[in-house]
Amino acid sequence: MSAPVKYSIQTRDLNLWYGDFQALKNVTVDIRHGLITSLIGPSGCGKTTLLRCFNRVNERYGYVTTKGEIRLLGKNIYDPDVSLIELRRAVGMVFQRPNPLPISVYENVVFGLRIHTPRRQLGRGVLDAAVEKALTEVGLWTDLKDRLKQRATELQLEQQQKLCIARLLPLKPDIILMDEPCSALDVEGTRAIEELMFELKGRYTIVIVTHNMAQARRASDECIFMLLGELIERRRTEDLFLNPGDSRTAEYIEGRYG
Ligand SMILES: Nc1ncnc2c1ncn2[C@@H]1O[C@H](COP(=O)(O)OP(=O)(O)O)[C@@H](O)[C@H]1O
Ligand SMILES: [Mg+2]
Repeated sequence: MSAPVKYSIQTRDLNLWYGDFQALKNVTVDIRHGLITSLIGPSGCGKTTLLRCFNRVNERYGYVTTKGEIRLLGKNIYDPDVSLIELRRAVGMVFQRPNPLPISVYENVVFGLRIHTPRRQLGRGVLDAAVEKALTEVGLWTDLKDRLKQRATELQLEQQQKLCIARLLPLKPDIILMDEPCSALDVEGTRAIEELMFELKGRYTIVIVTHNMAQARRASDECIFMLLGELIERRRTEDLFLNPGDSRTAEYIEGRYG
């Protein structure tokens, strides 16, 4: 029997430049499998940039250069045989503003399946089952089962954000990346998304960018603190907050900058 996977994401000496500007500097980090990891640090320190390396979306900008290694579940994502389509199926992403497509709830959930699966394998029964399963997993099924034809952009923001998570699930991702997923939501919506993250944990590895210290503390198992493109430390959340290993982390969590 093979050993259980300990880390879903591992970077080694990862450097990234936007043109001449270096946004990531020798980032070497291991992200635990099946847990929730927060990326924290002052605005502009490179949290979003690091997150977007994990599914190689930074490369959409022509002026980005990346050096170093990124392994997802042991596989180097820069290997020539890696398919970007497959990578982005395995690594789903959720953004600051919920961005469902302006089509029905149902079609949002099956959108990825339709792209990734040959049409003949997608009968009505398969699609219906996928919709029910994904909406159930994010806690929307009861509310939306009689409104599947409603336009997704008409839902409440919290429901829209949950739907954006739901539409990743039929593709069976390994990793879900969330970039400040609660920044458009109120306190209730934020709590609901945090509860959902707890539900999803274990089945998926979750990496969340947040500028909200209270959220990082409540919602994550591990925290990574970044400053000016460098990784300062990764620790279990309670250790990072109670016993930071670096004076710069201590200053940040005490609110002295950022
Ligand atoms: N598309 C881009 N082009 C050029 N510079 C960028 C781009 N995106 C981010 N940056 C710069 O890279 C640095 C890190 O940005 P970012 O990763 O968005 O930080 P954070 O998410 O921690 O606020 C910042 O100085 C930012 O201005
Ligand atoms: Mg950001």
